[in-house]
Amino acid sequence: RLTHITTSLHSGSRMVVKNVCCIGAGYVGGPTCSVIAWKCPDIRVHVVDKSQARIKQWNSDKLPIYEPGLDEVVKECRGRNLFFSNDIDQAVREADLIFISVNTPSKTYGIGKGRAADLKHIELCARKIAEVAEGHKIVVEKSTVPVRAAESISHILSANTKPGVSYQVLSNPEFLAEGTAIENLVNPDRVLIGGEESAEGEAAVGELTWIYHHWVPQHKIITLSTWSSELSKLASNAFLAQRVSSINAISALCEATGADVSQVAYAVGKDSRIGSKFLQASVGFGGSCFQKDLLNLVYIAECLNLHEVAMYWQQVTDMNEYQRTRFAKRIIGCLFNTVTDKTLAVFGFAFKKNTGDTRESPAIFVCSHLLEEGARLNIYDPKVERQQIESDLTSARATSEPERVEKLIHIYTDPYQAVTDAHAIVILTEWDEFKTYDYKKMLSVMKKPAFLFDGRKILDHESLINLGFHTETIGKRFTRNTLLRSSGGDL
Ligand code: NAI
Repeated sequence: RLTHITTSLHSGSRMVVKNVCCIGAGYVGGPTCSVIAWKCPDIRVHVVDKSQARIKQWNSDKLPIYEPGLDEVVKECRGRNLFFSNDIDQAVREADLIFISVNTPSKTYGIGKGRAADLKHIELCARKIAEVAEGHKIVVEKSTVPVRAAESISHILSANTKPGVSYQVLSNPEFLAEGTAIENLVNPDRVLIGGEESAEGEAAVGELTWIYHHWVPQHKIITLSTWSSELSKLASNAFLAQRVSSINAISALCEATGADVSQVAYAVGKDSRIGSKFLQASVGFGGSCFQKDLLNLVYIAECLNLHEVAMYWQQVTDMNEYQRTRFAKRIIGCLFNTVTDKTLAVFGFAFKKNTGDTRESPAIFVCSHLLEEGARLNIYDPKVERQQIESDLTSARATSEPERVEKLIHIYTDPYQAVTDAHAIVILTEWDEFKTYDYKKMLSVMKKPAFLFDGRKILDHESLINLGFHTETIGKRFTRNTLLRSSGGDL
């Protein structure tokens, strides 16, 4: 098949993509199309979104998302061959190839509520394309979708086709990770392109392959059937999440037995069949994708009557919830079984470092648990905006008492101010800057005994203990904390 595509690329019969449109200017659409514009100066890239606020930000000096390297790419290409606008009709009309990069969250209503992917945004895009398209269009499903979603898009398009208009639908799931999006896009492990097994399908696959060829070597571009491509994305996220839950399960065993999860992870990861990546125990995984894609997989398995398969993957997300709860309970246990009216400085609110994204962040869960117990939280994150933290913690998902929570949270822009008079520091995101702080100075302004809970295992715990912090982390117990524990902490 690859030979066929390469041949058609060189045969001169190609349509030649000149205009690309991307519907959805989010964490995927924005960076992906910025990199396409950067690497393909011969292609005009038009990113559109229904949100005026988002597009305004993409056209400003402060982009709507933080990603290392993104500002530079946008600055170089914006106005040259990269454009952001709300004019969806025009962008679709002009485009030869249209990426659909809209959000596909878990459904919050009806059948499959909380688990099935909500495809309403995808469907609206398909209907919009059918309404305004002219000529031949390649429609590329970049959003993460359930298996056979491309088929539904094709159905909607073909049922609404006007004379002289034709479509090919491809699956091209995105594997970028927030925080390293530009690096991942510039140097991907692989690019998947799923298409229909027909001459037209292969020609469309050839066009998209041609775009990626501008910077991705051929051996990294994998062409496969549309359904395999769709399922590969869900399976990849499920495997990644499973590794985190696996090492987190081991971390609980380590805490109970006196083993050290870092040592175990190192030893396990040295096995070349297993590998060392994604074996970092923590307070749990977050982000907009792992949870929803896992639940989507569970739902698909259930709908296919594959109960055991569904149960297997469900356990990966259950373990994540257990880990977050376990950490919150450990904090309360160490603080003499009550955090009511105690002040805790929370370092980090994003779901991981180098992003301002808080979707499904473990911080929301841990903070909500502590707030429920009456703790006052002084929260500091280098990239998350105050309004975001406030809305996450006062949302209906997080609390039934938003007014009470509002009074208990304080957002800081200086970590040293956040720890003043605090009983404890709780680290919930692995930001590098947390490693550089003067913890001696922090200790001097905290209430004693001062506690530090490292939910990301990033600090030098021995030196913190030497300074006088009662230190707790995931997957390890410090014997030198024993004295303090026996003086009242119920673990
Ligand atoms: P997002 O929520 O950041 O962006 C989606 C954008 O689509 C929003 O700006 C929204 O206004 C826009 N939109 C929705 N419906 C629209 C419509 N009918 N017309 C025009 N614009 C519309 O979502 P994100 O994170 O970019 O995710 C997009 C897809 O990519 C999802 O399926 C996600 O699972 C997948 N994905 C996300 C990754 C991530 O790290 N965020 C990584 C890989 C895949």
